[in-house]
Amino acid sequence: MTERVYLIGFMGSGKSTLGRWLTDAMEGWTFIDLDHFIENKYHKTIPQIFEEKGETEFRKMESSCLKEVSTFEKVIIGAGGGTPCYFDNMEVMNNTGLAIYLQLTPQVIYDRLQTSKNKRPLIEGKQGDELLHFIAVKLAEREDFYKQAKLIADADNWKVDDFVAAVQSH
Ligand code: S3P
Repeated sequence: MTERVYLIGFMGSGKSTLGRWLTDAMEGWTFIDLDHFIENKYHKTIPQIFEEKGETEFRKMESSCLKEVSTFEKVIIGAGGGTPCYFDNMEVMNNTGLAIYLQLTPQVIYDRLQTSKNKRPLIEGKQGDELLHFIAVKLAEREDFYKQAKLIADADNWKVDDFVAAVQSH
């Protein structure tokens, strides 16, 4: 069985929620939210990093933190929505564990983002049709990366047990 699971997918696709449920179901495993890991390491929130250093610098910090957590054992790692799309991050994940793409339609992502309280610089101030359009365009761009995951999950229909079974068989 794999030592690491990476949950990847668009903002709002439920990586953190599922990650916590999965670790509850898998004894001895812990959950790491990559955004929180970055925030703790640099003592700044993600919006602060975007504002003070810019996205380019954030992507470097994100990639270096990903490499750090890719050495931990028995961890479920919730990546950021953009993590798979920069540098060799997708390769790092595929070489060190099981990457699972939580696939959802733009409409479902949009609906889920309505109830999320997280501050996300990339969609700050966007709502309604503008937000839905942004999600559709960005998701189409990012899917080339997301689909490099070893496993693509129908995240709207899979139950936690389906994920546990998938992890245990890899
Ligand atoms: C981002 C997603 C965020 C966070 C940052 C950038 C993205 O993570 O890493 O705001 O580029 O999609 P979540 O997917 O956990 O919201």
